[in-house]
Amino acid sequence: MLKKIENKAEKEIKKAQTLKELNRVFKDFLGKKGELSLVLRGLKDLSEKEKINRGKKANELKERLKVKFNKKKIEIGSESQFDKYKGIDVTIPSKKPLMGHLSPLTQVKRRIIDIFRGIGFEVVDGPEIENEWYNFDALNIPQDHPARDAWDTFWLKGKKPLLLRTHTSPSQIRYMEKNQPPLRIISLGKGFRHEATDASHEMQFYQVEGLMVGEDVSAANFKAIVKQFFETFFEQNINVRFTPDYFPFTEPSFEVAMSCLICKGKGCSACKKTGWVEIGGAGMVHPNVFKSCKLDINKWQGWAFGFGIDRLTMMKYKINDIRLIHSGDLRFLNQF
Ligand code: FA5
Repeated sequence: MLKKIENKAEKEIKKAQTLKELNRVFKDFLGKKGELSLVLRGLKDLSEKEKINRGKKANELKERLKVKFNKKKIEIGSESQFDKYKGIDVTIPSKKPLMGHLSPLTQVKRRIIDIFRGIGFEVVDGPEIENEWYNFDALNIPQDHPARDAWDTFWLKGKKPLLLRTHTSPSQIRYMEKNQPPLRIISLGKGFRHEATDASHEMQFYQVEGLMVGEDVSAANFKAIVKQFFETFFEQNINVRFTPDYFPFTEPSFEVAMSCLICKGKGCSACKKTGWVEIGGAGMVHPNVFKSCKLDINKWQGWAFGFGIDRLTMMKYKINDIRLIHSGDLRFLNQF
């Protein structure tokens, strides 16, 4: 009888095409009311000797059938699992995933860091949210100084007067408060000004601040380093122009401009038709700034500069509108 059940079960397992059919076969034989289950349940009416003998055989059969069911289940499962891939050539090379890349601004920032590190400058950081002391007072711009109006400040709501820094110069103060000269640092980061935007102005822009202080650091030294920086950065001879300017935190102060690389000095929208692009401001550190940082004004002297990184990026890649750099437009960004 057991042999008959086994043959029948094997035949039906073999015949089953789907999991549903297989489950039905399982139920017919091993389910609660299945043929083999009935045999097992009937054992109790047999003699002790027969019970042991048939019970052993029936249980062995149960195990064998279970193994066969499982095997068939895997077979059916794996076939249907791959059905949907029929006709697909898996050896065809796949589409390349879209890879991101560094924005031109990041590439320029990294290059600036490389160049200045190469000549012994340390890179330091500063916060974007500042207080009046670091953004103005310590930089020799007192409360009632008209120069405060030159920076169209974004003020933050709150009890204490906090602001978005209008330039990277506060990082000079933060560094000199904690470190004694001689020192050579650059600090890169965002500046914010509430001003009308145009081809060369954004409300949010990047600057690199430079500061070098020692016992005999001079303006001639500044000119040499800046010239070297421009030529390494642009990989060509660059006309750099230094003209007198005014900043409360430097004396004397200069404006640093370069001949426009987009129009080769002929005049275009990026240089406001002048042939020159203002890259930044600079000068010899004002004694009042040293005093703010409790440094000895009789011992130390030095220079500082603040250059627009967006402007350097525009010149490097011949971008005629600063607003493109921050637009996030992939048609623009994919060109770099
Ligand atoms: C300053 O911000 C001074 N802190 C620079 C300085 C540092 C002078 C140390 C002396 C010593 P100014 O406001 O001129 O200066 O800005 C410097 C440069 O930042 C500009 O030449 C320009 O390249 C960039 N910049 C300023 N405002 C904007 C803006 N709205 N959009 C884009 N770039 C800007």
